Amino acid sequence: MKILVAGGAGFIGSHLCEELLKKDCEVFCVDNLITGNKRNISEFLDNKKFHFVRHDVTKPFPKELRKVNFDAIFHLASPASPNPKSPLSYLRYPAETLFVNSLGTYNLLEIARENKAKFLFASTSEIYGDPKVSPQPESYWGNVNPYGLRSCYDEAKRFGEAMTGVFLRKFKVDARIARIFNTYGPKMDKNDGRVIVNFINQALEGRPITVYGKGKQTRSFCYIDDNVKGLISAMFKPNTKGEVFNIGNEDEYTILQLAKIITKLINGESKIVYKPLPEDDPTNRCPDVKKAKKVLGWQSEVPLKEGLLKTIAYFDKK
Ligand SMILES: NC(=O)c1ccc[n+]([C@@H]2O[C@H](COP(=O)([O-])OP(=O)(O)OC[C@H]3O[C@@H](n4cnc5c(N)ncnc54)[C@H](O)[C@@H]3O)[C@@H](O)[C@H]2O)c1
Repeated sequence: MKILVAGGAGFIGSHLCEELLKKDCEVFCVDNLITGNKRNISEFLDNKKFHFVRHDVTKPFPKELRKVNFDAIFHLASPASPNPKSPLSYLRYPAETLFVNSLGTYNLLEIARENKAKFLFASTSEIYGDPKVSPQPESYWGNVNPYGLRSCYDEAKRFGEAMTGVFLRKFKVDARIARIFNTYGPKMDKNDGRVIVNFINQALEGRPITVYGKGKQTRSFCYIDDNVKGLISAMFKPNTKGEVFNIGNEDEYTILQLAKIITKLINGESKIVYKPLPEDDPTNRCPDVKKAKKVLGWQSEVPLKEGLLKTIAYFDKK
């Protein structure tokens, strides 16, 4: 199979490329490297079945890609970190984030339509905003600030979902949506700014751990290997056309609990400092994954401690 992975040089995309190569697929990784990095894919660059094309998916597709008849398209291209201090944050690239999830989604859906390819849009738990329902099932419509700072991401993803729905209904594209909840693991960028990367690197460097607010907000954390299995199942399992799936881990932790777990795993002695909560930071986040279990036979399997130890080992080595 010929598979296009948009955003393939990013954290999740590079793991997805690796897994697809293991399954003997021919992989076309398309990325403009705005938040991704070539070192994430350096190990596959010599593989004859792997092709890297540096390209911005909001722009018309290059000839070399137009010639390929794709069987499936994963659309993962988008900045993804909410932390305004991170150089990779979508808050530093608000217009690019709006465009890649709108225009970029449109361009990729057009390719899927022309190629009669399967299509998966990587959406996010952020479309639930600050949820009034917990855990969040796919049927929940969310509680999003449409004009706030984070709307460049949340609303762009909601638009991307709507666009995917239009191509499904109007042009019969074999499309589905994966709403990804916090995912972590090796190959995350040290400057990513998301909570697990921050805590691990602060503890490894003996710096205080920065907790925003009182640390009572909750999150659930999915290890990257589980996420990739979920995305592949959502794309290729039968009866997934037109469906929306939450892909995440159901175990919910407060941020303070997470800080203590990571500190204990690394050195047991980092001090915790408290900083003001960023705007529109959700109070809770936990996926209802009953649908993924039933339709995909998928659920996350890697316990938090095991995933954290692998991630700590990665950053420690770096
Ligand atoms: N990691 C998570 O916890 C998480 C949670 C929810 C949703 N997601 C979604 O999953 C996808 C991947 O996230 P990630 O954590 O791997 O982020 P990432 O920033 O590591 O990867 C995104 C990739 O997309 C590329 N990209 C961005 N705009 C592009 C454009 N216009 N053209 C081509 N490439 C472009 C970036 O260069 C990067 O390589 C994103 O769509 C994100 O919104 C991730």
